[in-house]
Amino acid sequence: MRRLFPVTDQTVTDQTVTRETLIRETVAHETVTGPAGEGGAAPGAREGGPDGHERSPDGREWSLDEIADAYAYPEPRPGEPVPWLRANMVSTLDGAAQHDGRSQPISNATDMRVFGTLRALADVVIVGAETVRQEQYRPARARAEFARRREAAGQGAAPAIAIVSASLDLDFSLPLFTSPLVPTLILTGAAAAPDRVAAAEKSGARVVTAGDGVGVDPARAVRALADLGHTRLLTEGGPRLLGQLVAAGVLDELCLTVSPTLTAGGAQRIAGGPAIAVPRRFALVSLLEEDGFLYSRYARV
Ligand SMILES: NC(=O)c1ccc[n+]([C@@H]2O[C@H](COP(=O)([O-])OP(=O)(O)OC[C@H]3O[C@@H](n4cnc5c(N)ncnc54)[C@H](OP(=O)(O)O)[C@@H]3O)[C@@H](O)[C@H]2O)c1
Repeated sequence: MRRLFPVTDQTVTDQTVTRETLIRETVAHETVTGPAGEGGAAPGAREGGPDGHERSPDGREWSLDEIADAYAYPEPRPGEPVPWLRANMVSTLDGAAQHDGRSQPISNATDMRVFGTLRALADVVIVGAETVRQEQYRPARARAEFARRREAAGQGAAPAIAIVSASLDLDFSLPLFTSPLVPTLILTGAAAAPDRVAAAEKSGARVVTAGDGVGVDPARAVRALADLGHTRLLTEGGPRLLGQLVAAGVLDELCLTVSPTLTAGGAQRIAGGPAIAVPRRFALVSLLEEDGFLYSRYARV
């Protein structure tokens, strides 16, 4: 993994640069900043190879800690716990958000590491019911690699999964409902079918009303989660849900993986639904690259 933006003196800007130049630049950087190894190697830092030679700063796998540092949520201002909603999506070069109904064929192992890290940083993962059904969602795991970080951030062992659904047409016998570490939340409208609400609650899920009709008002959903103490929000889509969050103006950040694949066909884009009147502007916060996949972070301007 290597960092392409923000540009630092460790960034490889010229593919023809020699290995010697890279090492020289990195050594020069360390002379100014001190060794990168203290308190965890900085992204892009050198590592000694098994042969005792230094490897180029871009050619190694980042630790989960480094990825977590690169994706840290903004610090909330004291006394002002404002929720921050980020989305994590993957898209092909031609804008497809899935292939054969799943995102897995356009993802890869590093994308899944980023995906897992973003989960580990979140208080709650918001997801549309169709993605839960199509991708056969399971409860979020407690991961030893992130235990200290979560504890220090005042978070429980794993994020809650919050499913947005009007129909509550979900299989409540699944582990997602019966045996999560943290009770699964279901965000729905006040007019949701009472028998489905009862079935959800019987399974152990917690039903949260965030709309006056059958559906959920996206802005109200964000507020309802914040009222439950969840301020580091992550949505994993799908496109129909993400489109509504964009339209409601509640999306603060998009972590978009650009997969170096082309699929053609009529797949959904990452955000669907009616177009908004004026395109919303986002600014690039960071850009990482590995194996031709781009890992971007955009925050709303
Ligand atoms: N590329 C990626 O990063 C990515 C990420 C996620 C998913 N995907 C893909 O996207 C596809 C699924 O996405 P999708 O856009 O079709 O569906 P989705 O957004 O995951 O879910 C849509 C469902 O969410 C519920 N919903 C949405 N808005 C609601 C509202 N305002 N109030 C109440 N309920 C609401 C409804 O559930 P009910 O029908 O239960 O009422 C609706 O049918 C899958 O193929 C998946 O693989 C790709």
